[in-house]
Amino acid sequence: EAKITIDRMARGYLPMTEELEQVLAMKDDTYLLHTADEVRQKAVGDTVHIRGILEFSNHCRCGCFYCGLRAQNDKLPRYRMEPGEIIETAKAASEAGYRTVVLQSGEDMWYTKEKLCSVIEGIRRECGGMAITLSVGERPFEELRAFREAGADRYLIKHECSDARMYGRICDGKALVNRIGCQRNLKKLGYELGGGFMVGLPGQRARVVANDLLMLRRLGCDMAGIGPFIPHPDTPFGGYQPGSARLTLRAVALARLLLPKSNLPATTSLGVLDKNGRDAVFSGGANVIMRKVTPWAYRRQYEIYPTDFGEETDLATARRELEEYIRSIGKVPL
Ligand code: 5AD
Repeated sequence: EAKITIDRMARGYLPMTEELEQVLAMKDDTYLLHTADEVRQKAVGDTVHIRGILEFSNHCRCGCFYCGLRAQNDKLPRYRMEPGEIIETAKAASEAGYRTVVLQSGEDMWYTKEKLCSVIEGIRRECGGMAITLSVGERPFEELRAFREAGADRYLIKHECSDARMYGRICDGKALVNRIGCQRNLKKLGYELGGGFMVGLPGQRARVVANDLLMLRRLGCDMAGIGPFIPHPDTPFGGYQPGSARLTLRAVALARLLLPKSNLPATTSLGVLDKNGRDAVFSGGANVIMRKVTPWAYRRQYEIYPTDFGEETDLATARRELEEYIRSIGKVPL
């Protein structure tokens, strides 16, 4: 029965929550992953897009229970990069071959509308044609409009969890409607919207994951980052189990069926949880990967969840290695 749902979805059928739950619970997911791989091949081909992520500030006003950058975590040394330093780093990334930079930070209001616009304009000016993606949290409509006019092309902001009550609990009382409202504003302003959610949050049921998937479709996400929850010791969720890598793979595959033309990253958190997770997700619907381009002095302080940072290689070398990896799995790096 679940197999029939998969076939129908591959032909454009929009399933109900219950049907998605059934597929998520299948004992054998070979068929799901294979179908997602075929749909990916037909809809977006064999290109794997490489994005450089520049983590320019780890200050955050929020208190999300899962995140290591939460304001209440006083064990974390905080940093902010000056606008000029951000532009210089983006330029170095561009010279190393990156065609997109993702500017990410906690929700840090030190970066006013004017400051962020000057960063965006600077990158426009100095990094010939590099696409700019923002990932700076919830901002008012007029700021989002100013960023767009300054030259930002895309914006990543996940709904994280589609269950409103659960969202309130895990995000320290924030409201899901504000998050969804922000996502809708971004679509109105002509941004490419990158949504997404976490798999395996404490107390999360399969039904929530099914609804999370339907939410991506309702929002019309152009991209969707789906990653497993990873406990961070200095947060209230530090003692919980991580999310399942297998369930994450299934969710990504279903996202491919729901949004055939979307960009779906092999999330960093999936790679952290499972060394082979990356290969598997690229054969099950994913077509994007992100690499940190953050200066090493700051990288270790941008710890959303415990991460293996590896050795300090330069941007060009790291990029070359990633391109080789992508070719080794039969895909074309861009
Ligand atoms: N485990 C996994 N992913 C996390 N994120 C935040 N905290 C965690 C965690 N503990 C994800 C969120 C956020 C993105 C930047 O990182 O989905 O949108």
